[in-house]
Amino acid sequence: MELLGVDIGGSGIKGAIVDTKTGKLLTERLRLKTPQPSTPQAVAATIKDLVQQIGYKGPIACGFPARVINGVVLTAANVDKSWMRVPIEQMLSEELGTDVFVANDADVAGIAEMCFGAGRNERGKVLIVTIGTGLGTAMFYNGELLPNFEMGHILLHGDDAERYCSDSAREKLDLKWKDFGKRFNEYLCRIEFLIQPDLFILGGGASKKFEKFQEQINLEQARVIPAETLNLAGIIGAAMYCERCIAEKKQKK
Ligand code: BGC
Repeated sequence: MELLGVDIGGSGIKGAIVDTKTGKLLTERLRLKTPQPSTPQAVAATIKDLVQQIGYKGPIACGFPARVINGVVLTAANVDKSWMRVPIEQMLSEELGTDVFVANDADVAGIAEMCFGAGRNERGKVLIVTIGTGLGTAMFYNGELLPNFEMGHILLHGDDAERYCSDSAREKLDLKWKDFGKRFNEYLCRIEFLIQPDLFILGGGASKKFEKFQEQINLEQARVIPAETLNLAGIIGAAMYCERCIAEKKQKK
């Protein structure tokens, strides 16, 4: 199918029409600035603008940087607090006059990575970790997503892990890659102890610099590799998620 995937982030809202069979973009990736403050109404207006600029008509799916369960936003670690408990799917569907499906941003990026990126053909337990403003995680077992498997907020040294080793923590604390790598390795060791994945796939901004901290990564048994779909994963995965939701909706009818 040819569907619009939208990636809602803290600084940019990005979208493109995607061929869900091949994972290829059919239009150029369009990026609009996330409005500040990023309240629900302001974000909805920006998505509307994006859809109009792309000239798309039809159902849409968005990746959103929070826990989204049954179409409702349930956390607001890195988004405006006014998003808490907003029925985001219903609200965006009404604003845009079409079906809008929404899922966690790491989950949708993970879907793309497992289909078209470093995770294709990988079985067993795979945890995708997106290293950006926050730490996003998406868990797959034999290629199947376990949604909202949030592992970015576990405690490390008594604090939220994403304040210890996200990309924004690295920038804020001006950490050298080596020091960031040591911190990130502590994080992965802890996750390995808790859930024993077979493979970690690192996505998000910092994954492009994997070779700069790769040497610091030393786990018991899990493999660690960088993502391949990089900054398009959110858009491609959202379009694929949209296709799944359309199929589910049809089945329910
Ligand atoms: C949020 C997650 C999100 C991640 C990446 C975290 O702060 O809690 O839901 O996936 O940031 O955006």
